[in-house]
Amino acid sequence: MTATEAGPGRPRVEAPLKLTGAARYAADHHPDGILHAVLVGAPVAAGWLRGVDAAAARALPGVTAVLTAADLPVFPELPGPVAVRAMPFADDRIRYEGQPVAIVLGETVEAAEAGRAAVVADCEHAAPVLIGHGHREPALGGDEVVFARGDVDAARARAAIRIEQSYLQPPRHHHAMETSGTVARWDGGRLTLWDAVQASSTVIPVLSAAFGLDPADVRVVARHTGGGFGAKGYIWPHEILAAAAARVTGRPVKLHLRRADQFSNVGYQPWMEQTIRLAADADGVLLGLEHAVVNNTALADTHVEPATEASKSLYAVPAVRLRQLVERVSLNVPTPMRAPVEGPGLWALESAMNELAEAAGRDPLDVRLANFAAVSPADGRPWSSNGLREAYEEGARRYGWRTRHERPRRDGPWVIGHGMATCTMGSFRFASAGRIRLHRDGAVVEANVHDIGTGVQTVLGQIAAEELGIAPDLVETRWGDTDLPATGPTYGSSTTMGTGSAVAAAARDVTKQLAELGQGGRDPLAALELAGLDELVGEGRFELPGGSQFSQDGEGTPYAMRTWGVIFTEVGVDPDFGLLRLRRAVGVYSAGRIVNPVTARAQMTGGIIWGWGKATMEESDQEPVHGRWLAKNLSNVAVPVNADIPAGIDVAFTGEYDEAASLIGAKGIGELGATGVDAAVAAAVYDAVGVRVRDLPILPWKVLRT
Ligand code: MOS
Repeated sequence: MTATEAGPGRPRVEAPLKLTGAARYAADHHPDGILHAVLVGAPVAAGWLRGVDAAAARALPGVTAVLTAADLPVFPELPGPVAVRAMPFADDRIRYEGQPVAIVLGETVEAAEAGRAAVVADCEHAAPVLIGHGHREPALGGDEVVFARGDVDAARARAAIRIEQSYLQPPRHHHAMETSGTVARWDGGRLTLWDAVQASSTVIPVLSAAFGLDPADVRVVARHTGGGFGAKGYIWPHEILAAAAARVTGRPVKLHLRRADQFSNVGYQPWMEQTIRLAADADGVLLGLEHAVVNNTALADTHVEPATEASKSLYAVPAVRLRQLVERVSLNVPTPMRAPVEGPGLWALESAMNELAEAAGRDPLDVRLANFAAVSPADGRPWSSNGLREAYEEGARRYGWRTRHERPRRDGPWVIGHGMATCTMGSFRFASAGRIRLHRDGAVVEANVHDIGTGVQTVLGQIAAEELGIAPDLVETRWGDTDLPATGPTYGSSTTMGTGSAVAAAARDVTKQLAELGQGGRDPLAALELAGLDELVGEGRFELPGGSQFSQDGEGTPYAMRTWGVIFTEVGVDPDFGLLRLRRAVGVYSAGRIVNPVTARAQMTGGIIWGWGKATMEESDQEPVHGRWLAKNLSNVAVPVNADIPAGIDVAFTGEYDEAASLIGAKGIGELGATGVDAAVAAAVYDAVGVRVRDLPILPWKVLRT
């Protein structure tokens, strides 16, 4: 295999576990003596808690306890990555509807639910603070300008074309099929959690700080995670409360969020208003770029969605000014969601680039090519690798972009439009460890990753097999337990690059040890036998400059590291009803070496579908009178289903091997596919019927409103 060639496709090794029901998720663990916990949420979005009357609930059969603030420990200030610093129960202020005010513990979940219904929370109401009230503050304190280069005002003054527009997107909930939840058991001073998470290693510092434990006394088991999309990335209060309830009652506790509680007790993607001001010459070559982002956050907790990052790094612009602001409202705190940062950022930037192309009278692809950044616009460093030009070219070829308007513009009731956008994501590299145990009949990979559906177990096995020179069938992967080597998180499109590199290093350690035993150059299984050993253990690490745990965009290296791509979409618009149909999508990506084309294609296809959902369907509303989330279940949540998606979404990768990014040439892929889709779809709608929609989702009434 040459370095740039994609590896062989392999189906997922963990799939049979799921298909047969053998995969055990957090809630499938029932330690002896388990109690079931249900949260009682504040019934109002703003005010004060005067008291909780739990007498009737405590009298119900099967209700073991009702815990209120007086029963729970006072937690010290908790370290990152705790999601919420204003922990529930810490004071009597109510800051959002659903904020926990009591925990009901029952012998069965039904008893706990009945107890929950019988608890009365006595609240003093106040007027809730609603999204869009207009009072903004600098997101990071101090100055709202987070980045500036060159003179944007001068650029604007001399520009032939000026674009200034605002782009809106509503809040969206992640809504993984498996809600968030934790089973907690104490064995003396040792705590075990079975947890639905994306980063179990990071549960340990938070939980050990919460309870004053030695980190070595906390173990987290998290093999299968039923989706997360970012909502299980940070550590949320229910994980801490489950452990607290278990300690108070002296019994193991399962606290699995009900779907209704999921809205308020973990994060969501915030509401965002983004304003873009482009200054360009008559050909659409950018002279200046301003990008201001406002996202909603909670009253007492701050989440910043740094969507301006997209504008810092994508195009070669001499003058840039970026602003980040937040608006505090009576809702729980938001959190990153699949394709955070650039996902929202490109909705605004790429929509504005399409408007610029129209103003310049040029093809939107040519405007992108004219603004291609040959080095990092943020700091002038060379790219570690960058195949964006090839991606543009290959994508346009596959789509037939240059001849798109020679094809029929109508198909029955559908008026057909075409739109495109650039895709990009930052490069999140996390330090990671991995281990390989070589046995006479095969190898075992050990690394504390989670199975969240991406296929990483398969990919790690492939990497080990390739490095060792043995068949992939001879490699087994063990994962999902903090007793295994610590890895980076299962988010940020980072796992293959980081943990994959650690596993490759472990394999090279095995090979080196075999050579030291005088068995180099042989089949490793035969070599082990010849060396008279039953097991040989190789350890590997993926290390970052300066020994840091995290490096963004090549921080600490001579290179700037990012990923790119292009998305082309063909959308049918019914001009009478405002309905939209995705007819075709072509995505081509420049993202390092692709280890497994089967799982990689699935990631990008999923990202494009995610983007279609964002573009045309998804919206979580804050109810305008009571200030709570309007929806309480999935019946009010529109997401794409199979019938919404055409067969054969076309996904391809540019051949690439990025040796600066990782030991295995890989960079991150998954979230990249979800970027740019919304802007491409909006452009296609405009191309079809001449309506520019700048507030997502593109619902029928918006298509019809002009
Ligand atoms: Mo994603 S926001 O990296 O789970």
